[in-house]
Amino acid sequence: ELKDNTIIIVLGASGDLAKKKTFPALFGLYRQGFLPRDVKIVGYARTKMDAEEFHKRETSYIKNPNDDPEIAKSIEAFKGFSSYISGGYEDGESFDKLNSYLEEIESKYQSKERNRIFYLALPPSVFIPVCKNLKEHCYVAKNGINRIIIEKPFGKDLDSARELLNSVKQYWTEDETFRIDHYLGKEMVKNLLVLRFANIAMGAAWDKNSISNVQITFKEPFGTEGRGGYFDEFGIIRDILQNHLLQVLSILTMERPVSFSAEDIRDEKVKVLRAIPPIERDDCLLGQYVAANGKPGYLDDDTVPPNSVCPTFAACTLWIHNPRWEGVPFILKAGKALNEAKVEVRIQFKDVTQGIFKDIARNELVIRIQPSEAVYLKLNAKTPGLYTRAIPTEMDLTYKRRFTDAKIPEAYEALILDALKGDHSNFVRNDELDVAWKIFTPILHWIDGKQGQVPRPVSYPYGTRGPKELEGFVQKYGYKRSADL
Ligand code: BG6
Repeated sequence: ELKDNTIIIVLGASGDLAKKKTFPALFGLYRQGFLPRDVKIVGYARTKMDAEEFHKRETSYIKNPNDDPEIAKSIEAFKGFSSYISGGYEDGESFDKLNSYLEEIESKYQSKERNRIFYLALPPSVFIPVCKNLKEHCYVAKNGINRIIIEKPFGKDLDSARELLNSVKQYWTEDETFRIDHYLGKEMVKNLLVLRFANIAMGAAWDKNSISNVQITFKEPFGTEGRGGYFDEFGIIRDILQNHLLQVLSILTMERPVSFSAEDIRDEKVKVLRAIPPIERDDCLLGQYVAANGKPGYLDDDTVPPNSVCPTFAACTLWIHNPRWEGVPFILKAGKALNEAKVEVRIQFKDVTQGIFKDIARNELVIRIQPSEAVYLKLNAKTPGLYTRAIPTEMDLTYKRRFTDAKIPEAYEALILDALKGDHSNFVRNDELDVAWKIFTPILHWIDGKQGQVPRPVSYPYGTRGPKELEGFVQKYGYKRSADL
C-alpha cells in the first residue's frame, strides 16, 4: 500500500516541530525500512540556505548518541534523498517554484505516477494561505495522490475551529486531509482497542456497574520556559485536555466499532463524545505554577504577560450521558512543572459489597501510556501463609519486562506511516473536532474572561504534585486512595 514515486514535502522545515518530531520520525521510518521505494524528502521554509547547511541541520535533528557507525551510514543515505528549497508561505510565486522543483524530481521517475505528501509543520498564522497555495500551485491533478498532514492548534474555540476547518475544506477533501493528534500514534493508546475488545474479562467490567471513577492524567516535570508566548495564548486545556486526553477518553469509552475501519472507529468515537455535555465550572480546578526549588514561576518568563491568569494545570470532570456510563466521573487532568513525567489512565472499580472482607482496597486498572509502558491491575490476594488475610498486590504487564526485544515506535513514526498508507484510523475527523470543541468552549470562554469575571487559578509550587486542592477535588468524585483504607 505504500506508493512508489512519493515525495514528502516538509513545510516549516526549520521549525521546532520539524526538528524535534518530523525529521527524526522520517529517519526512524527509513531505518526500519518503512518508507516507500525511491522516496524523496523535500524541506521547505523561509530561511535561505544551501544544501550543505540544510543537511547539517537535518542531521543535527537525528540522534546518534553513541556514534554508531551503522546509524551514521543510514544518516548519509538519508541525506542523499532529501533536499531543501526556500520560499514564502503567502505568495503564489514561491509555490510555483516549489512545484517546478518537485516536477524536476518527478521527471526522473520511470512511471507517470507521482504522489505528494505535504506535511505542514507550520504556525497557525500561515496555515490557510499554505493550504490554498498548495492546492492552487502544487496539486497533482492526475496520475497521483495528494495528501496534507496538519497539526493543532485547530482553532481556539468552536467558532474559530469551524472557520478554520471550512477554509481548509475549500481546498482539500476530508480524504486528503490527515489531522494529527500525536497521542493517537502512541503504542498504549493504540493498545486500548485491543485491551477492550479482545478480552472478554475486560469487556464485562467496563461500565457504571463495576467502575467508580476514571482519571486520565498528564504530568510534565518542566514548565513553559521558552514557549511562554505561545502557551499563554492557549493554556493547558487547549494544549492537552481538549485534544490528547479527550482522544484517550473517547477510545476508552466508545462502544465496539462494527469493524476496524477508520470510519467505523471514528463513528463510535463521535457518538460517545456527543453524549458529553459542556464542562461545568464546578467541575474544574485550575492552577498556575510559581517559583520553587530553584525553578522560575510561570509569570517569571519574559514572554508571558505580567499578571497572566493562564492555567498551567487543569483538572476537569466530564460526564457521559449514556446507559453504559451514566454517573461515572471521568477526571481529565494535566499540568506543567509537576513532580514527574507521567501519562496514565487509572480506572478505579467500585468496592466489593461488605461481607466476608472489610476495609479492602479497590481494584484499579492502570494503563501507563508513558514512560515505561505498562498495564497493571491492582487486586487483592491472600497473604501467603497459614492465615487468611487479603493484601493489595498487582498483576503487572510492564512492557520492558514482558516484551524484552520489542522496540516501541515513536508516535510520529506510526502516524506518518499511516498517512503514507492512506489510513485515517488514527487521525482526527472533522466532526470529532467539532464535538470536542463543543465540550470545552464554554469553560474556555469563561477562563478567557468572555463571561465577565476571569477565574483565578490557584498556585502550586514548581516540581510538586500540583495544587493542594487536587486531593479534595478527586475525592469529591469518589476516588479513594488505597492508603486511605
Ligand atoms: C504537545 C503539547 O501537543 O504535547 C506540549 O503542545 C506537550 O505542550 C506535548 O509537551 C507532550 O507530548 P508527549 O508526546 O511528550 O507526551
